[in-house]
Amino acid sequence: MNKKVAVIGAGNVGASVAQYMAETNLADVVMIDIIEGFPQGKALDLTQAGPIRNYNCMITGSNDYADIKDADMVIMTAGLPRKPGMSREDLLAANAGIVKTAGENIKKYAPNSFVIVVSNPLDIMTYHMWKTTGFPKNRVCGQAGVLDSTRFRAFVAMECGVAMREVQAMVLGGHGDTMVPVPRYTTVAGIPISELIDAKRIEEISERTRFGGGEIVKLLKKGSAFYAPAAATVEMARSILCDEKRVVPCSCQLDGEYGIKDIYIGVPAILGANGVEKIFDLKLSDKEQADLKASAEKYKGVLKEIGY
Ligand code: APR
Repeated sequence: MNKKVAVIGAGNVGASVAQYMAETNLADVVMIDIIEGFPQGKALDLTQAGPIRNYNCMITGSNDYADIKDADMVIMTAGLPRKPGMSREDLLAANAGIVKTAGENIKKYAPNSFVIVVSNPLDIMTYHMWKTTGFPKNRVCGQAGVLDSTRFRAFVAMECGVAMREVQAMVLGGHGDTMVPVPRYTTVAGIPISELIDAKRIEEISERTRFGGGEIVKLLKKGSAFYAPAAATVEMARSILCDEKRVVPCSCQLDGEYGIKDIYIGVPAILGANGVEKIFDLKLSDKEQADLKASAEKYKGVLKEIGY
């Protein structure tokens, strides 16, 4: 029997997640959205691509949370996307309400599921989801670092003129302007990028990564990025559903790692059949550690705004 994944929100990110899942035959997908007919229409359209794209899984849509019943995994993408000039934090109040409703329904209908949060502001919404569901911390994580890292990887590959997959990268911290790209953990086929790109250019690429989402919002003018966010989410989902034990940066609940407590923030973790199986507590440079702390402090302040 196929695994069942519920995708909350059938918008740009949600539908792209369903598409990438179907194309790799990862799981049956049910998309939930508040707009009547919308998830059903998207599901039908995606299903009709199946004979050509070779799916062996079912994609359905519903406006009723009861249809997430017994899902193995829930991917939370519902919420408002950014418009030009908005920060991810500007979405706070609206998306907090949506996450609360979803969290209560996940707890009710899919109490054993793993939850991956994509809705922004990411680290805050992931904490909010964890609190609302009451799930253990290994079963709730957020997608951000894989996206930030893939953006960094793409820029490095473009800079060096090498195949994208040759580049490995690590971006820590919050999903926002305080994210912390770590160039010394970034390699091209195992070669540290400091041997291939000069320091000034690395800093420019890091800066472009930090504002990578904003660059796309500005170009699109309505809505935010969705292809890379969805691809990053499916990579995390696959590692958990197939027990791949990939080591990826993702938003995890910290309990003293990096000297930080009671907050969700992007750190490298093993994702496997038990969800977040291990967090790597790396030794950072003073500057990296200070940047990560600053990222965490910022989120502590934002969490207060939604009552934590
Ligand atoms: N329950 C279910 N679906 C909801 C709810 C709700 N309470 N509220 C809104 N939605 C749906 C909307 O109807 C819409 O179809 O969520 C979907 C969001 O889709 P888009 O507007 O296309 O936004 P998208 O680009 O997918 O981004 C979603 O992911 O990357 C983040 O910042 C982004 O928070 C945003 C989220």
